[in-house]
Amino acid sequence: MYSTGYNDLGTPDVAVTPATKLVTLEIDGQPITVPEGTSVMHAAATLGRSIPKLCATDTLKAFGSCRLCLVEIEGRRGYPASCTTLVADGIKVHTETPKLTQLRRGVMELYISDHPLDCVTCPANGHCELQDTAEALGVTDTRYGLSGANHRHADTDTSNPYFTFDPTMCIVCSRCVRACDEVQGTFALTIQGRGFESSVSASQNEPFLASECVSCGACVEACPTVALTEKSLIQIGRPERVVTTTCAYCGVGCSFNAEVKGDQVVRMAPNRDGHANHGHACVKGRFAFGYATHPDRITSPMIRTSIDDPWEQVSWDVAVNHAAAEFRRIQAKYGRDSIGGIPSSRCTNEEAFLVQKLVRAAFGNNNVDTCARVCHSPTGYGLKNTIGESAGTQAFDSVMHADVIIVVGANPTEGHPVFASQLKRRLRQGAKLIVIDPREIGLVRTPHIQADYHLPLRPGTNVALFNALAHVIATEGLTKESYVADRCEADSYSKWKTFVAEERNSPEATATSTGVDPVLVRQAARLYASARNGAIYYGLGVTEHSQGSTMVMCIANLAMATGNVGREGVGINPLRGQNNVQGSCDMGSFPHEFSGYRHVSDPITRALFEDAWGVPLLGEPGLRIPNMFEAALDGSFMGMYIQGEDPAQSDPDTQHVTAALAAMECVVVQDLFLNETAKYAHVFLPGSSFLEKDGTFTNAERRVSRVRKVMEPRAGFQDWEVTVLLSNALGYPMQYRHASEIMDEIARLTPTFSAFSYEKLDRLGSIQWPCTDKAPTGTPTMHVEQFVRGKGKFFLTEYVPTSERATRRFPLLLTTGRVLSQYNVGAQTRRTQNVTWASADVLEIHPHDAELRGITHGDLVGVTSRSGEIVLPAHITDRVRPGVVYTTFHFPESGANVVTTENSDWATNCPEYKVTAVEIVKVNHPSEWQKRFHEFTERQLSLLKGRETTHA
Ligand code: SF4
Ligand code: SF4
Ligand code: SF4
Ligand code: FES
Repeated sequence: MYSTGYNDLGTPDVAVTPATKLVTLEIDGQPITVPEGTSVMHAAATLGRSIPKLCATDTLKAFGSCRLCLVEIEGRRGYPASCTTLVADGIKVHTETPKLTQLRRGVMELYISDHPLDCVTCPANGHCELQDTAEALGVTDTRYGLSGANHRHADTDTSNPYFTFDPTMCIVCSRCVRACDEVQGTFALTIQGRGFESSVSASQNEPFLASECVSCGACVEACPTVALTEKSLIQIGRPERVVTTTCAYCGVGCSFNAEVKGDQVVRMAPNRDGHANHGHACVKGRFAFGYATHPDRITSPMIRTSIDDPWEQVSWDVAVNHAAAEFRRIQAKYGRDSIGGIPSSRCTNEEAFLVQKLVRAAFGNNNVDTCARVCHSPTGYGLKNTIGESAGTQAFDSVMHADVIIVVGANPTEGHPVFASQLKRRLRQGAKLIVIDPREIGLVRTPHIQADYHLPLRPGTNVALFNALAHVIATEGLTKESYVADRCEADSYSKWKTFVAEERNSPEATATSTGVDPVLVRQAARLYASARNGAIYYGLGVTEHSQGSTMVMCIANLAMATGNVGREGVGINPLRGQNNVQGSCDMGSFPHEFSGYRHVSDPITRALFEDAWGVPLLGEPGLRIPNMFEAALDGSFMGMYIQGEDPAQSDPDTQHVTAALAAMECVVVQDLFLNETAKYAHVFLPGSSFLEKDGTFTNAERRVSRVRKVMEPRAGFQDWEVTVLLSNALGYPMQYRHASEIMDEIARLTPTFSAFSYEKLDRLGSIQWPCTDKAPTGTPTMHVEQFVRGKGKFFLTEYVPTSERATRRFPLLLTTGRVLSQYNVGAQTRRTQNVTWASADVLEIHPHDAELRGITHGDLVGVTSRSGEIVLPAHITDRVRPGVVYTTFHFPESGANVVTTENSDWATNCPEYKVTAVEIVKVNHPSEWQKRFHEFTERQLSLLKGRETTHA
């Protein structure tokens, strides 16, 4: 038997405020004091008294339907349900009496009369609360017999790829319905019918797959029987052990208990003690882990001389020594700076730290850059300059204290689903929502909530719109002058106020650029500025623009001017895309910064690292990723070590990137699969999945959580161990016995991690940096008394329209995003059943634009920009506004980045993915690029022939 050690208290904790009264009562003779509003069941569980229950669980509000949790209260008549009865001062509760046992057994027998007692052969054996409760009550049979009316002939719904619904096992406790409503916020389930006829129904009595269900698994997690069960549990059987680890998908960083049998993962159960997710999850982390054992995994190192040669499968020694020799040869021929490395935002902090150390200490240059370059580098720049730290200011839980929430350039229900569920919970409690996005994202209209304002601006006009919001706030006297006077630089504030107050920044004057009704802009600005707590959440729709850094500063300016930084419920919250984007930035993966965002030119910092690493280090920043590719095409950059990234798919202007990769003499790719970049590689080093390694990830709220090894690495090494091998082969010895020793080094060298250790992390569960002697358990909210930089600094944010604008030749603006079921370049999720929901990228087109061009739903559409042409199926929808088309970039054959341009943020080179001027036209065949892509892919796959394959 395995256990997660979680003690379900039956009903949720009461939200305690300074005004909450305490109540003292007695349970089975033991006194206990709890906050007013606590249920008797919760109080009893706190004392270790476990009252039988079926319809109650502490993630859901009490419901009171199963009648198993009856108690006796002295002086009160009857047998109240302890889950719905609240504590009161002085009451004396009895949870175990002969009468209660008799009543509970009677109820249980009724359940069993309609529930087959074939526990031994049931896949949920040992995993079923009904079975556990029956056993605890000593009920093994029913006086009512099994021949009466029952539900045992109902069909099982197997439509969802990951879980089944077997109505014969359902006890109609409604936990699934409440989980879908209260936890997930999708409202896909109902109980239909009454009395004996009542049953669970998805949407309008549809199969789960056809319903509104988004496959988050909350209902499966809540179900106390086998009625809703993972298919993997049915197929593999009862788990034997549990390993707590962290999701390797998005920046929410959900904690999971991996339930394992042998070396097979049976279930990824969301961890109720998880600080980022509190027991919730989404379809990716919860179910889409099959890629880790997919037959496409390459588990043996390979080398080849040219990308036209077949791969040769070799030993680790041969592969690593070959890579090292090639790198040294290239440096001897082209100079020290002719090679570089890219760590991964999907790998651990420890792995990112080692790659940048390898580049700086073993390559001897600063040519290290991370994929955050193409997503959140403007966040680093904008926040560092305004408030002094390159990270979000809050914990996710802070949203539960926000009164007005702005979501700008982010689509949380698709990209950060577990945070979206929490946000929706707060909105259902009455918080107001302002959505600023060219598309009608899911949050604009969802069941039971609706955005108060949706400002559907034209792509590329964020800065103009935020200047307009600031104009209203500054000119209508809505700024928090005392806050600003206390905490911000007076001079910069006064210049900013004068600037935004200029008429050209008014909602009316900017409307021609933004396309947004000025009345709505004024109302939205007043709503945000007058909130007790106003919070801003943003995503890549803010950063991936030519003015990405300016826009981050706009957000910081607005938050400071309205006093919305430095306490719970407010703040500036970048929603980081990948699981460890925050961490890879923190670890010094940029060419100009050591870990903790300290510039390489700072002699004191450099001396610290030189002393620790025993080599001289360069004080000049190295090349950024786009500059590395430029230099490759110029013939001066010839070798690259790429760990867990796929720039050939994820970076803009694909044809430029692939030409640069093809121009290099030694591309070393370390990955799970032969990804698009690996097709241009000369050395392939097999990677390890998150299930095969120890380390840490840092999520969007600066929360560092443990990644724990669930199974042995399929190729023999964890990713950080491969970097150690490469470094040793390069003649720069690294010696670590465990990932914890790398973290110890990070802590020694990084002030914001100075009090960090694995021992502390294991003890506390997770820690939000800064973790220092002053804040030994971490820092949930930053900038509390003052900004990290001292005084907050306002920047002037002049709107400079992008050069990428609609013209007669390219009259539409293409913008990009994500779907819930797929993740980033899709290398993982495309190799799971998540393709059930999205098996191709499509082009969303407004009906008006489609009609003008004679395009109907499902037609193939050629999308042409000044960079290239691709073909996608049309999806006609009014979620995009006229003049805007939208696609995702999860499938390499779509080539979304073939059409995106080389335009980038002025400060950080973050590509302008969100605005590409295009024309679309109905076609009937793939684009020339797509034809070449297919031929190249076929050829590269044929060159793989002869390798040994791993099997699931
Ligand atoms: S899987 Fe999630 S969305 Fe689907 S019905 Fe269950 S709780 Fe609702
Ligand atoms: S499916 Fe499970 S959770 Fe839903 S009502 Fe039936 S037994 Fe309860
Ligand atoms: S993908 Fe994100 S929201 Fe989904 S389970 Fe993983 S961390 Fe949580
Ligand atoms: S647990 Fe209280 S009525 Fe079901």
